[in-house]
Amino acid sequence: QPASTFYDAVGGAETFRALTARFYEEVERDEILRRLYPEEDLGPAERRMRMFLEQYWGGPRTYSDERGHPRLRMRHSPFVIGPFERDAWLRAMHTALASIDSATMDDEHRRQFVDYIEMAAQSMVNSPI
Ligand code: HEM
Repeated sequence: QPASTFYDAVGGAETFRALTARFYEEVERDEILRRLYPEEDLGPAERRMRMFLEQYWGGPRTYSDERGHPRLRMRHSPFVIGPFERDAWLRAMHTALASIDSATMDDEHRRQFVDYIEMAAQSMVNSPI
């Protein structure tokens, strides 16, 4: 019997925790990305990202319980996001994704996730440069 949500199918909380932890490790050491994040401690930002992704993919709805409607484009408006920032963000996410093994996330789910992040990252661009 197939798992009912993407969230369950790829291993649930454990997988989303690993993915976002790896993503923020990349943010920490990326010159373009690190300076964009206003807080010294990336822990709270990591948690918001994790809750958002879990909710988006059919997991717990903690993100909206705490933050309300995502309104992600609006929440990104304080940050200048041009093609370089988009590409740096996507690079970090691809690195994080590559750290999830294929037994945990098969090609079909991986493809779905990649399609989503590429669309979502493009939609967050708010500057031509
Ligand atoms: C928040 C950068 C794309 C999801 C943030 C923050 C920054 C940032 C600087 C503030 C950190 C904080 O939470 O305190 C970027 C850049 C992107 C990008 C440079 C490049 C395109 C995306 C995408 C998604 C996303 C594609 C979703 C798929 C989030 C979420 C938050 C956030 C959920 C927290 C929102 C909240 O306050 O509740 N991002 N982001 N971001 N970002 Fe992004």
